[in-house]
Amino acid sequence: MNQAYEQYTQADHRMWKQLFERQMEQLPTIASRAYLDGIDKVRFVADHIPHFERETNPALRALTGWEVYVVPGLIPHREFYTHLYNRQFPATSWLRKPEQIDYLEEPDMFHDTFGHVPLLSNQAFCDFMAHLSEVALKHIDQEEILQRISRLYWYTVEFGLIRENSALKIYGGGIISSSGESRYCLGRDVPKIDFDLSLVLDTPYHIDRYQDHYFVIQSYDQLYESVTGIEPLLEAYLAQQA
Ligand SMILES: [Fe+2]
Repeated sequence: MNQAYEQYTQADHRMWKQLFERQMEQLPTIASRAYLDGIDKVRFVADHIPHFERETNPALRALTGWEVYVVPGLIPHREFYTHLYNRQFPATSWLRKPEQIDYLEEPDMFHDTFGHVPLLSNQAFCDFMAHLSEVALKHIDQEEILQRISRLYWYTVEFGLIRENSALKIYGGGIISSSGESRYCLGRDVPKIDFDLSLVLDTPYHIDRYQDHYFVIQSYDQLYESVTGIEPLLEAYLAQQA
């Protein structure tokens, strides 16, 4: 499947620009340095929808060896993790309409690309996702294990926070692409929990409202190193269930 770039209308490019500029009004002070630097590195700009084959992928391949891979929408676990394992980040190519600006039933390309792709310029973060997908593929027929891996993905890639120079910053794409949750999640009354792999694997999540709490990593290296220790935790969990 390809992006069918010529099919984007002027209204689509304007929608991208509006979303991009709205987020860039707030992200410079609240998003992770690696994410912010990544925007330029992957050549995202406000005035047009990124062209994956011409702009995004040549840049990404040179940076970390990853690429954006167009998919029609949500895809089955096996397919999803196989793409990640092959350093392909699955992304849709359709963009929300003005009436959907703040609410979507399924992620669109603004979420998938603006939210996630700039951080694919960071090697430790990429290595984390590659290792997580390798473990997921090993357990692809074990629903309970996959659910635990999904929690890890959810509380990091989608809704993760990071501490940088003692300030909390956003790196999860689910937050970064959401105007409301970008403001909400850093609120003083919203619980923040130091990242602990075992606790994350045990913590369910919901998909239909802002998160009740957010997990905070110290660095992307910490994230990568944590996932290299996931197998014994999953085995211990399986042994407990047996
Ligand atoms: Fe996402």
